[in-house]
Amino acid sequence: MRFDLVLFGGTGDLAWRKLMPALFQAFRHGSLPEGGRIIGVGRDDLTHEQYRSLIQSRFDKVELAKRPSAEEFARFAALLEFVRMDLSKPHDYASLAQTLQQRNADTVVMYVATAPALFTTVCEQLAGAGLNTPQTRVVLEKPLGHDLASNRSINHTVRRFFEERQVFRIDHYLGKPAVQNLFALRFGNALFEPLWRREHIANIQISIAEDLGVESRGAFYENTGALRDMVQNHALQLLCAIGMEPPINAHADAIRDEKLKVLRSLKPWTAETLAQDVVRGQYSSGNSGGAKVPGYREEDGVNPLSNTETFVALRTEIANWRWAGVPFYIRTGKRLAGREATITINFRPTPHAIFNSAAGLANKLVIHLQPKDGLELHLLAQGQANRSSRSALAQSLAPVQLDLDFDKRFGSERVGAYERLLLDVIDGRLNLFVRSDEQEEAWRWVEPIVEYWNNDPQGPRLYAAGTWGPSASSAMIARDGFCWSEEA
Ligand code: BG6
Repeated sequence: MRFDLVLFGGTGDLAWRKLMPALFQAFRHGSLPEGGRIIGVGRDDLTHEQYRSLIQSRFDKVELAKRPSAEEFARFAALLEFVRMDLSKPHDYASLAQTLQQRNADTVVMYVATAPALFTTVCEQLAGAGLNTPQTRVVLEKPLGHDLASNRSINHTVRRFFEERQVFRIDHYLGKPAVQNLFALRFGNALFEPLWRREHIANIQISIAEDLGVESRGAFYENTGALRDMVQNHALQLLCAIGMEPPINAHADAIRDEKLKVLRSLKPWTAETLAQDVVRGQYSSGNSGGAKVPGYREEDGVNPLSNTETFVALRTEIANWRWAGVPFYIRTGKRLAGREATITINFRPTPHAIFNSAAGLANKLVIHLQPKDGLELHLLAQGQANRSSRSALAQSLAPVQLDLDFDKRFGSERVGAYERLLLDVIDGRLNLFVRSDEQEEAWRWVEPIVEYWNNDPQGPRLYAAGTWGPSASSAMIARDGFCWSEEA
């Protein structure tokens, strides 16, 4: 299968940080179909050779194990070409069309890794140049809009020129091995499914903590915030993977139909739940990795009086027969105490306690998404018996863990998120991409939070960098009689 992959934003940040390294890994693993061509598109006036050298120089910033040797890069570079384009000029699309027609590839992927403001222009112009053929696939990166209206307007324009089956909306969390494992865990095993419901589960926690701050993206982040950057997409996709019904088969639409139902079942916000069940925070100066770090308002590109949230914790419910009444807690933030993404399923206590034990330490399944990829089942077991005590049985119960480390089991050289997703686009597999109706539903659900915050004079609660966020987040979960996983 001969493919052409056109990378709009070919000299940009995403291209050299994520996409080129992922394409190279696929090439190195032999999984990139033979006969492919990768065409970087940018405004600079570069020859193919200059573009190759530019990409090669960027690999210096990639972790050592994923860097090509000179010989490997020379072979990879044979796939790379460059086309100079001004994305607003129809004439430039006509030249791109000519370049593509010379080869007439079986599949043409248009990866729009540009500023989101250009998404609709690129799609319109591609169609204008006759480049919306049935062989074409369009890849769109987040953020797809700023709210429901702008998201709809992008989707609407894109669908004027491309069918839904041609549109690949990336949420890179769906490409993470751990998230695919979650589907495998739930739908490949009979063991968990009977327990995966309100009768047996007390609460579910989705926590995506980052230790980094906004780095060089202050200006972007200032207009985005954690709710739009992480909750509307990544966290809600994880919630769908945990909460969805088993799909009737593994086809993309069967999976996406079930995810959509979860999003539609999320409990609508009320004035009361908005006030009680959502916490927004913003980091102030503190310590991270042993060094003093500035607060968000001191970061480059950030308004010194900013109210943008760098932390969100919220409580919601999926209002259906399986989940009614089970709280789902979502928490995400920057400059927290560590980089750690986990999903914790806390099971209900045993119906009748014969052991006088610390059951809170057991009875849970922890799914580690990163940095480690693994699964821990926390159980109570009989520890060392104390012969002198009459209630030795009770005293010696100890928490133990069944601990699966997938990196060890399958090797840490597993297919990375972008590598997986790029290969899926080339092969036309939509399972791990987000359909427009899912995306719109997610926006619909987060919008009342944004509106509430816009009218809330209190602003975000400050938390010191290097901590787990504002204390209001612990207080929110404590109201239900639970605590965040790391506080257990
Ligand atoms: C991106 C957000 O979508 O995800 C970033 O824009 C965030 O702000 C990143 O840092 C987190 O991704 P990962 O894979 O490092 O957890």
